[in-house]
Amino acid sequence: MTTMENPTAHGSGNAATDKFKSERVTSDTSVERASAIYQDVIGAFADIIQKHQVTYDEYRVLKQWLIDVGEYGEWPLWLDVFLEHEIEKVHYNRKGFTGTKGSIEGPYYVPDSPKLPAKCTMPMREKDKVAPPLVFKGQVTDLEGNGLHGATVELWHADEEGFYSQFAPGIPEWNLRGTVEVDENGNFEITTLKPAPYKIPADGPTGWFINSYGGHPWRPAHLHLMVKAPGKRAITTQLYFKGGEWVEDDVATAVKPELILDPQPNADGIDEVTYNFVLDPEA
Ligand code: DHB
Ligand code: FE
Repeated sequence: MTTMENPTAHGSGNAATDKFKSERVTSDTSVERASAIYQDVIGAFADIIQKHQVTYDEYRVLKQWLIDVGEYGEWPLWLDVFLEHEIEKVHYNRKGFTGTKGSIEGPYYVPDSPKLPAKCTMPMREKDKVAPPLVFKGQVTDLEGNGLHGATVELWHADEEGFYSQFAPGIPEWNLRGTVEVDENGNFEITTLKPAPYKIPADGPTGWFINSYGGHPWRPAHLHLMVKAPGKRAITTQLYFKGGEWVEDDVATAVKPELILDPQPNADGIDEVTYNFVLDPEA
């Protein structure tokens, strides 16, 4: 993976692009469906151009910007911030699920993180411990509330500086990433730390884009989760922290009220929170 000396738009963009390209994705979209979508996309562009009387200068700036986003490797970043939340809504609604709400995956998921036991501490460096510790526990169940033996809770999140391992330089490969295997009743108890808010790299074309309309590049502090169990629909989601900065104004529009945690100090004075994951049957 490509990372540079300092975390830059170029560095994290290229790392995210390399990871995405390695997946070689496909889709079974029919020609009819592709035609319908294509016509609507071109029609939407036509409407916008007419509505705003877009000029040749603006068109040329757009062309240059699109070239720059590709050259900086920032398409995974830009797309996951500005479009993925809408795709996720369709994904959730189309199937009529009633279990735990999903949220965007974002560009920094890596499969096959190290397996950890149901009661565990996330891999972290000494220096990460400046962040407040967090005990995150709960149960993975089916719709009837039965604990799901065999479920896994994959957790990945940024460190105290807002950086993700494998996408910023100098961080151990699996730092703050793990695949937790729940106990026979579906329970888990993970000690980790509270991540910092995440700032989209602002020194590249995604940052220029945000500046161009006077926006901000911040996401609220969040935990990323992928929860799976045999015969159940896997969910990809994120959890946020009540009262945290940017919770009400996430640049990626990915916060849902059901996904906000409110940790409280436990008997040891460490912030602790319980969150249960409810999985629908496989479609
Ligand atoms: C982006 C980064 C994230 O950590 C996330 O959760 C969503 C989007 C991004 O930079 O595109
Ligand atoms: Fe993230």
